[in-house]
Formats: sequence, C-alpha cells, structure tokens
Amino acid sequence: MKITYHGHSCFLVEGSKGSIIFDPFLKDNPLAKVKPRDIRVDAVLVTHGHFDHVGDAVEISKNNNAIVIAPFELANYCQNKGAASHPMHIGGSHAFPFGTVKLTIAHHGSTTETGATGNPCGFLLNMDGKLIYHAGDTGLFSDMRLIGELNDIDVALLPIGDNFTMGIEDALKAVEFLNPGIAIPMHYNTFDVIRQDPNIFVDGLKDSHTKGVVLAIGESMEV
Ligand code: NI
Ligand code: MN
Repeated sequence: MKITYHGHSCFLVEGSKGSIIFDPFLKDNPLAKVKPRDIRVDAVLVTHGHFDHVGDAVEISKNNNAIVIAPFELANYCQNKGAASHPMHIGGSHAFPFGTVKLTIAHHGSTTETGATGNPCGFLLNMDGKLIYHAGDTGLFSDMRLIGELNDIDVALLPIGDNFTMGIEDALKAVEFLNPGIAIPMHYNTFDVIRQDPNIFVDGLKDSHTKGVVLAIGESMEV
C-alpha cells in the first residue's frame, strides 16, 4: 500500500483493490503540488465540514464517480452539491471494495457555509491488511487509548498544528495511547497560526516503539 501526503490533512492511499483520498484540500492550498483534476480515486473520506477538509471532495467525487464517505450530515451536504455519497456515523464500519472504513470520534466542530454538518470524525481504514488511523481535526482524548487497545494500527496520521487541534505535546501523548507502528504529523504550516516544526514531534518519539515520519508535500511511502 502506498501513502502520499498532499499537504494539510490530505493523504492519498493506494491499495491493490482501489484508492482513496482523505480530506482533499488542494485547489485553495498554495502548498499543495497537485490539483483536484490530477486525483484518481474510488472514494473521498472527509472528516468534517471545515473548508480545509471538505475542500475539493465534491469535485473529485464528480471527476471520478467516487463516493464521498463522511458522517451522515456532511455526506448529505456533499450529495446536495452533486457528489455520490455513502453516509456513515461514529462507531459504524462498512466494507467497501477497496477496504473497510470505521468512523471514530473527534473533538472539534463541523460547519460549512450552509451551517452545521453534524459531528466531526476520525477514520480507521483497513486496506490490504494494513490499518491507518486518520484522526481528523481533534484535541487529545483519553478514548484514543481504547482505539489503540482495539486496533493494531500500522500508521497514525495526527494533527500537530495546535490552535485548532492538538499541538505537538498532546500529539505525542496520542501516540502513547494509540501505539501505532508509524506516526505521521499533519495539519501544520498551512496557515501561520499552525506553524510547527514537525521534527520536534519526530524527536519526541525517539525512545518510543513508534517511528515518527515527516512526509514532505508530494512525498510517498510504502507501508
Ligand atoms: Ni477543522
Ligand atoms: Mn482543519
């Protein structure tokens, strides 16, 4: 399985049975190196309705006939804009042709220009026998310990930007709770207010069983 970072909270995940993208924020992110039209996927997984996450979801859905997988209210919002959607909700899992998706809690908001779109979420994605946890935008919460206990996480994608989400110190605590094989920081440096040095996060993991990996924008890794 291949994971490519496209900046902010956006990751493309390509497996043997299909591809998905998390939180595509490309067109309006000057740091992103690809455009929505460059993306080929079977599904778009969106954690919440803020513009820096729902971003290009509808456009990518339309370009690819791809389903938007999101919490019910947000999936409906995308469907009203012409996307194909598969609504889910927190605690629910579903087997798709490309892999299995489960929604987890996230402590944050979820508002679009049309109003509130329910609760935000995180995702557990099982693809080709590998488990990825995308935390979405969230603060640290102690149920991450439960998520780590119930799941053998290969890769955790965790926000470190602070201000809107966990900062580095709390993200390191999240790693302790989740106990993943690899932790990749996200949701930093896109805006001035979330400026962080991701190497401080990686250095904080040097005595941990978890390997910290900073992906440059556009960089991929095989898992
Ligand atoms: Ni947000
Ligand atoms: Mn955000």
